[in-house]
Amino acid sequence: MHATALASMDPLYQRLRGVITPFDWAAFVGDIDAVLALKHERNAVILAHNYQTPEIFHGVADLVGDSLALARMAMKTEADIIVLAGVHFMAETAKLLNPDKTVLIPDLDAGCSLAESITAQDVRLLRENYPDVPIVAYVNTTAAVKAESDICCTSSNAKAVVESLGASRVIMLPDEYLARNVAATTSIEIISWKGHCEVHERFTAADIREVRESYPGIIVLAHPECPPEVIAEADFSGSTAAMADYVGTRKPARVVLLTECSMSDNVAVQHPDIEFVRPCNLCPHMKRITLANIRRALEANRHVVRIDPSAAERARRSVERMLAVRA
Ligand code: 13P
Ligand code: SF4
Repeated sequence: MHATALASMDPLYQRLRGVITPFDWAAFVGDIDAVLALKHERNAVILAHNYQTPEIFHGVADLVGDSLALARMAMKTEADIIVLAGVHFMAETAKLLNPDKTVLIPDLDAGCSLAESITAQDVRLLRENYPDVPIVAYVNTTAAVKAESDICCTSSNAKAVVESLGASRVIMLPDEYLARNVAATTSIEIISWKGHCEVHERFTAADIREVRESYPGIIVLAHPECPPEVIAEADFSGSTAAMADYVGTRKPARVVLLTECSMSDNVAVQHPDIEFVRPCNLCPHMKRITLANIRRALEANRHVVRIDPSAAERARRSVERMLAVRA
């Protein structure tokens, strides 16, 4: 039988056929088998963010989730090696929480426009200008920035973290929109930075109006990295995991997720009965991670994530303080 026809009979493929063509699947099968065998041989786990492509997310990942869930899972694993299928700040967070384990990222250039928008020196200057104001660093930052901050947050616990500090004024960096979206839900004054996510800043309120006109009754979910005017017109805003939970529990007949493209694919696989409308934007950094480079990461033990020892301890404290907050 032809390789493409044979591969398409695979039971895993039967679940993914709505989001992966038989031709692509036939090309993925060899790498999936190799990665599964390598994980076993090397006692490795693969943690994959919700934005990873379906062949990674459904094909080889052991644990999947949003940034907060990945950080929590990283702490609990018994494996010797963690492969982080996501972007560099996520791999750094896993390493901060697991200093004695090997953490691999398949492509060192998998960055993030938010993490790149601020430096440790910027945070030191903010501290000088606002000596009594606590600094909350979004987890989408480098370890060096986390080290200069008081506590971290993710999109799923940002409000709870800000409110846990007992301060009337808080600096929240670097995502201006996340900061403004949190400020809209609390009486605490929030000083923000000018960083933006290059994926979410492209959504507009006009996109929502167009989609509502073309698809009557559609439910619009938006990530809190979107501009405030987008959040104001959406039906629900939450982290990637909160959006997936909304779809799973509320089961809208038609839905659009204003976020990265693979997210809809991954959630759609779990809910074949729901209609997903997909005006999404790709994250070029997340897309640097592929099955082929995950395989190479496990074969060649690369790229090992290392954190500057002068920042590691303080950065870890910021992440641990966040994990101690009840969201
Ligand atoms: P989540 O924490 O919601 O998964 O978001 C991470 C991210 O990078 C969104 O762009
Ligand atoms: Fe960073 Fe935006 Fe990509 Fe998330 S989607 S990793 S915030 S650039």
